[in-house]
Amino acid sequence: MSVSVESGKAAGDMAGGPAERGGQQGAGDVRDSNKRQREGAGQEALRPHAETAFADELAALAAQDDRPRPARWNLSPWAVATYLLGGTLPDGTVVTPKYVGPRRIVEVAVTTLATDRALLLLGVPGTAKTWVSEHLAAAVSGDSTLLVQGTAGTPEEAIRYGWNYAQLLAHGPSRDALVPSPVMRAMAEGMTARVEELTRIPADVQDTLITILSEKTLPIPELGAEVQAVPGFNLIATANDRDRGVNELSSALRRRFNTVVLPLPESVQAEVDIVSRRVEQLGRSLDLPRLPDGTEEILRVVTVFRELRGGVTDDGRTKVKSPSGTLSTAEAISVVTNGLALAAHFGDGVLRPGDVAAGILGAVVRDPAADRVVWQEYLETVVRERDGWKDFYRACREVSA
Ligand SMILES: Nc1ncnc2c1ncn2[C@@H]1O[C@H](COP(=O)(O)OP(=O)(O)OP(=O)(O)O)[C@@H](O)[C@H]1O
Ligand SMILES: [Mg+2]
Repeated sequence: MSVSVESGKAAGDMAGGPAERGGQQGAGDVRDSNKRQREGAGQEALRPHAETAFADELAALAAQDDRPRPARWNLSPWAVATYLLGGTLPDGTVVTPKYVGPRRIVEVAVTTLATDRALLLLGVPGTAKTWVSEHLAAAVSGDSTLLVQGTAGTPEEAIRYGWNYAQLLAHGPSRDALVPSPVMRAMAEGMTARVEELTRIPADVQDTLITILSEKTLPIPELGAEVQAVPGFNLIATANDRDRGVNELSSALRRRFNTVVLPLPESVQAEVDIVSRRVEQLGRSLDLPRLPDGTEEILRVVTVFRELRGGVTDDGRTKVKSPSGTLSTAEAISVVTNGLALAAHFGDGVLRPGDVAAGILGAVVRDPAADRVVWQEYLETVVRERDGWKDFYRACREVSA
């Protein structure tokens, strides 16, 4: 006989403390203790979660947000979009932009989360899919940690639930022996769940999501029970364009998602802007020297990456070959951050061509044979001839030798 577990009760069960469950350590406790750790460690963590790093902005938004909020949302859709895109609040609080890109994309993504369809963020590597997904979950639910990392080895239990085997053997299947997945917890508590790299997950495991997304329920046959999603539950998945063909999304599953494609930055200036912002943030957490605004080297790194990625120089005159690896904004950010660390520890604290040259070489030359040829050709035909790039050319020659 099938016993239907009330979703409200399931939520209580999972969030409950030890007293409610006779002192047994359940997933709820682990999560509570995670939360406590997070609050305790706060900004001190090497990489705080978005909801911790931007707690002040989120609180200011919540306090001044008088628009209607969907059930269990911390903010209205308008405030979530403002959190992502940045803006100035009525009391003068400045909300920093997290995502730099078309406003409409963010509006569609946020709106999707307020409907019964899930959100699929699609795009080439380094277009901020993971970043946007984390910030959306932080803004909507105040918690970006209900996360399933998709890999070729992701089992069904990672999406549904698993068992605490000691408990299972000692007492048989019971609520206490059940280890809920992040998705199950999000359903029970009306939160945002995240699935990273959905298309790397084997197709049959992906299909577990169909019932969850269409029926909004997760059956637990072993207990003759189910967890029904409560309002507020939704799911954000990310998938990489490059993985297309690895494990295609089945059309049944695709229909449960609204797909939003995140584009590459449209102009050099937009990309320089993204890189500068992120480098500044990362630099602060690593105690690196501050970059003066509009640093030439950032423009240089971004230009090199864009040209190699696009296969043509910025002025459209010279064709160049593209290397095998990915040269996304994310790589540009890490090259500049590394350069800044070099400048701080071994230079005079000013980012110079020599500090980014090695990083660029490392990013471009992934395949020692083929990519090296591509790089040499670019160096000799483009970099060498360009006005104001002499120092950079020399630095590249030095590290390439
Ligand atoms: N348009 C953008 N606005 C703000 N930040 C961006 C943008 N594009 C890239 N970034 C930055 O690039 C970094 C990498 O982004 P992220 O890891 O989210 O990429 P991804 O699309 O998930 O890549 P992958 O496909 O490799 O998983 C982040 O630090 C993010 O801040
Ligand atoms: Mg990602």
